Amino acid sequence: MRPALILHGGAGSPAADLTAAREQGLRRAFAAAWTILQQNGSALAAVIRATVELENDSVFNAGVGSCLNQEGNIEVDASLMEGSTFRAGAVGAVRNLRNPILLAQAVLDAGRHVFLVGEGAERFARLQGFPSATRPELVTERQLRRWQSAQTTGEPGTVGAVAMDTGGHLAAATSTGGIFNKQPGRVGDSAVIGAGTYADDTLGAGSATGDGEAIIRATLTRTAIELLRDGKDPTQAARIAVDFLHKRTNGEGGLILLDALGRVGYAYNTPAMSVAFLAGDRVVIRE
Ligand code: GLY
Repeated sequence: MRPALILHGGAGSPAADLTAAREQGLRRAFAAAWTILQQNGSALAAVIRATVELENDSVFNAGVGSCLNQEGNIEVDASLMEGSTFRAGAVGAVRNLRNPILLAQAVLDAGRHVFLVGEGAERFARLQGFPSATRPELVTERQLRRWQSAQTTGEPGTVGAVAMDTGGHLAAATSTGGIFNKQPGRVGDSAVIGAGTYADDTLGAGSATGDGEAIIRATLTRTAIELLRDGKDPTQAARIAVDFLHKRTNGEGGLILLDALGRVGYAYNTPAMSVAFLAGDRVVIRE
């Protein structure tokens, strides 16, 4: 089966000076994950790889370059799900971590729990051998300046990946620094299975971005995937789900989707959303 892949780099009001850097970052992440899929690697491995690349890229609000909370600290959220087994892993409000998606993977692999948060997640990270990332490794000048000037514009930057492998299996992953100036301990949709991330081989898989509180209330990815069950194509399903988000919660955001045939869809109601997918043999980046 031909694999499929779609990535997002967040929905919101993008800073124009970062357009080229975001595009480059998405291309790099897409190429890394696509190589895995072409070599018959799993959808789960591909979404993890894409997300790690985006977390390591300081232009996105995930991992390195995450936005700061009220106290000027970084607390990150991430989750992932495998559509064949329904295995899932999630972490929320975790400090001092470079690649939250890898910690979510460790939760998934350990298998006992689905969702770890705060200090418990941090202790689990140390037990699993994740190094404690220092503040200078994670906090960028740009995010520090935003925080110091209390600049509240909705810059995008949450990252997400959805893949189908050659076996027809689906997986989804999402990672974020959350929302600017958030309350310490706040966890958004990116860590919540069914809201920010969902995968079911029989229907489809998705990753969301935008107002976390609204996306949780609307269980956005699960809502979109249920629309695939009703026979909608992925573009229609994404559109209807985003309209539902706005109508019922007044929320702004977007999501990317693959259906069980590997067809891509995405929609958003923000000024822009960064997306990367394949059209024929060409990687298309939309901003
Ligand atoms: N969608 C990212 C967040 O609200 O944390």
